[in-house]
Amino acid sequence: MVKIAPSILSADFSKLGEDIKSLDKYGADLIHIDVMDGMFVPNISFGIPIIKSIRKITKLPFDVHLMIEDPSRYIRDFVEAGADIITVHFEADRHIDRTINYIKSFGIKAAVALNPATQIENIKYLIPNLDMVLVMSVNPGFGGQKYIDYCYDKIKEVKKLADEYNRDMMIEVDGGIGKNNIKKVVESGANVIVAGSAVFKDKDIKNNISSLRGEI
Ligand code: DX5
Ligand code: ZN
Repeated sequence: MVKIAPSILSADFSKLGEDIKSLDKYGADLIHIDVMDGMFVPNISFGIPIIKSIRKITKLPFDVHLMIEDPSRYIRDFVEAGADIITVHFEADRHIDRTINYIKSFGIKAAVALNPATQIENIKYLIPNLDMVLVMSVNPGFGGQKYIDYCYDKIKEVKKLADEYNRDMMIEVDGGIGKNNIKKVVESGANVIVAGSAVFKDKDIKNNISSLRGEI
């Protein structure tokens, strides 16, 4: 089953609680939470207090995408705030193997994200130990960017490695996904689809989620 993970980066923050309740009601599978530090990426989003407070209003799993330098410094805080999956960037951590084991030691799921130009080969040996790989299909930092076309091939490569080394590993793709390309992303091997602008556009969460699902 393909999961839809709306990114709340595109939500209306003046009524974040309502938007999250709508995601719950209209069939989101996960809530994708983009944390940005203004260092790893050229943008700052939101952090731990927001996650803690929205944790009280939904039971949906929190898929926390850390776009921060040296993420191991904050893993415990994000676990305590309510993360169910924590994703760290390969490019942001000198000791990615240690950080993955550290995340798993809290009994939650661990994932590695790769920027568009980062080779999957870099994490080949980690795959048996990962719950998920996140393939970035835009350069991280902002919602509403255009999908980078070479990422279809990259998703296929990840799928091949998953078939070989870890069949349970989820393959998540993030950035520039909408009605026009979700099918091709899924056919390439993704089974967790992040969508920000495509879910929140025209403030019509219900319709947007169901039309994305209708394509797959
Ligand atoms: C980008 C974020 C994405 C982003 C996706 O750095 O990781 O999750 O919010 O937004 P869309 O779907 O609009 O590209
Ligand atoms: Zn993201």
